[in-house]
Amino acid sequence: MIELAPSILSADFARLGEDAQAAVEGGATVLHVDIMDGHFVPNLTIGPPVVASLRKVTQVPFDCHLMIERADKFIPAFAEAGVNWISVHQEACVHLDRTLRLIASHGCKAGVVVNPATPVHTLDEVLPLVHHVLVMSVNPGFGGQTFIHSALKKIESLSQIRRARGLNFRIEVDGGVHYETVADIVRAGAEILVAGSAIFEHGSPRESACKLLRSARAAANERLL
Ligand code: DX5
Ligand code: ZN
Repeated sequence: MIELAPSILSADFARLGEDAQAAVEGGATVLHVDIMDGHFVPNLTIGPPVVASLRKVTQVPFDCHLMIERADKFIPAFAEAGVNWISVHQEACVHLDRTLRLIASHGCKAGVVVNPATPVHTLDEVLPLVHHVLVMSVNPGFGGQTFIHSALKKIESLSQIRRARGLNFRIEVDGGVHYETVADIVRAGAEILVAGSAIFEHGSPRESACKLLRSARAAANERLL
């Protein structure tokens, strides 16, 4: 099933609740929440209190993408704030297995993220532990960047590995997802589409979500034919 997870990073933070709700009305079934620490990535975003406030305005699962060092220290606070999925970067976690188990122990779905330069085979040992694998199709830190096409091959590989090993993780993609790239992304096998600027920087988030999902589902249907 194709799902749209708008990244609130590109929303208008003065009307965060309204923007999030509008995207959900347009068909988004997950909200992607980007957490940056100014160390692992060269940017800063929000912390648990903002997430807890946003939690009050919508029921959809929150997909918390941690782009931070020392994730273990912050996982309990994000779980407490009401997020449902938490993903951590392979590159940022020295004890990745422990961190993924920690996420699950707080009642959240664990995900692992790979940067554009990180090969998929580095995840071999943790794939049975995760609910989703997030393939970065830009270098993390900012919205509005150009899609890096080598991500498509990584999505295809993950899809093959999942089949060969009989695993169940979902495949998510983040960065540069918009109308021009979405069909190739879906054809490669991605199921959860994170999109920030495509949803929040072109007029109505409701309309934009609806349009992007329509293109994505059309490509998914072609893939099944
Ligand atoms: C980038 C973030 C993304 C970002 C995507 O580090 O992880 O979620 O918001 O933005 P777009 O869709 O504009 O590339
Ligand atoms: Zn993200």
